[in-house]
Amino acid sequence: MAEYIMAEKNNRMIPEEDKIFALNARAKKMSEEVGRDKVINATIGSLLDDDGKLVMLLSVVKALKGLEPLDFAEYAPIGGTTDFKKAVKKAAFGKHRSSSFVEVVATPGGTGALRNIVANYSKIGDRVLTSDWFWGPYKTITGELYRELCLYPMFDENNRFNKKGFSEELNKLAADQESVLILLNTPSHNPTGYSLDGDDWNGISEAVKEASKKARITLFVDAAYIDFAGDEEEYRTFLPKLEDMPSNVLPVIGYSFSKTFTLYGMRCGAMIAMAPSEEIAAEFKLVNEFSARGTWSNSTRSGQVLVSKVYEDEDLLESVNKERAGYREMLIKRGKAFSNSVIEAGLPLVPFDSGFFSCIPLKDPAAVSKRLEEKGIFVVPLAKGIRVSVASISEEICRKLPGMIAEVIE
Ligand SMILES: Cc1ncc(COP(=O)(O)O)c(C=O)c1O
Repeated sequence: MAEYIMAEKNNRMIPEEDKIFALNARAKKMSEEVGRDKVINATIGSLLDDDGKLVMLLSVVKALKGLEPLDFAEYAPIGGTTDFKKAVKKAAFGKHRSSSFVEVVATPGGTGALRNIVANYSKIGDRVLTSDWFWGPYKTITGELYRELCLYPMFDENNRFNKKGFSEELNKLAADQESVLILLNTPSHNPTGYSLDGDDWNGISEAVKEASKKARITLFVDAAYIDFAGDEEEYRTFLPKLEDMPSNVLPVIGYSFSKTFTLYGMRCGAMIAMAPSEEIAAEFKLVNEFSARGTWSNSTRSGQVLVSKVYEDEDLLESVNKERAGYREMLIKRGKAFSNSVIEAGLPLVPFDSGFFSCIPLKDPAAVSKRLEEKGIFVVPLAKGIRVSVASISEEICRKLPGMIAEVIE
């Protein structure tokens, strides 16, 4: 909408409707009209079972039912309860023992961590660095806060992570701004499913060290999908790299229990600073708690109590981890089936590792998506391709879908 009646535009381009919610609504409507078996809805960003039902970890649900009324009713401290902060460190770090000054601030989901990091570690008018394939709300959040995204090309001509592109854009920003905020979504990047490997991290680390000679750097690792990527320890091996940084670099992890505990609706997440000094850690707590007070105030207490209870009880934690591992296996199989079939169908695939989504690069994603929709196939058109949620379709459909997409493209 270009002009508002009463509302202010405030640096935003607000679409009339949310693209993904609208697609989902059309998929549901078609499903009711022609039957569920004639519709493929690969738009949803939550893990569904093969019957299209939301996956919920029953051990988590059981623990939730055991909470006391006070756990729901009482306010949580602005930065989160002490036990929650302890649990978050265990959840995010796994076996890694941090040598940094670690500080945790609770946020409503991973989205809250993103909003706080942009609000507090970039200035109005700044450009925030992320890849050219990115999760839409990165643009919403930066726009709302009068910042802009600066996009580096995520993959090079050999379809490898573009270390050079990353370094070039970062160094340009570092020359222009006093500080640079970087948003890296890994592992299982949304929308591509790519996970940065050791070599990519070495390149990032080198580039950050170089750029930090010119500007302060905040390196935000959006790890929303970390517990659905694969082996929990293997996918945390990047953590030590974050601790080998100059003193004007602040690594922060964005952690979400939306996926990890299937608690999407409870808005439970955190931002974790791995600060190079005690002062930077104390400042992190101060500014982010202040910002929280000015936006959502405190986060949901019941989610925090639940997470603390799970991490305090070894048996319960083991059953949650075991249950999640089963669903993770299901998701990994779907992702493999989809990516193999894309290649067999002769289609290009954006480098994929794991996670909820995979992308096929296309010249005219909107037109292809429209034609797919006519055939009852719902995917999300992005700027550079279509996003398929393997999280919301069965392994069998993952295998069939690329052939159907290839037919439509031809
Ligand atoms: C890339 C990315 N970051 C963060 C989030 C955080 O989500 P939530 O606020 O539900 O925890 C999501 C969820 O879809 C995501 O895709």
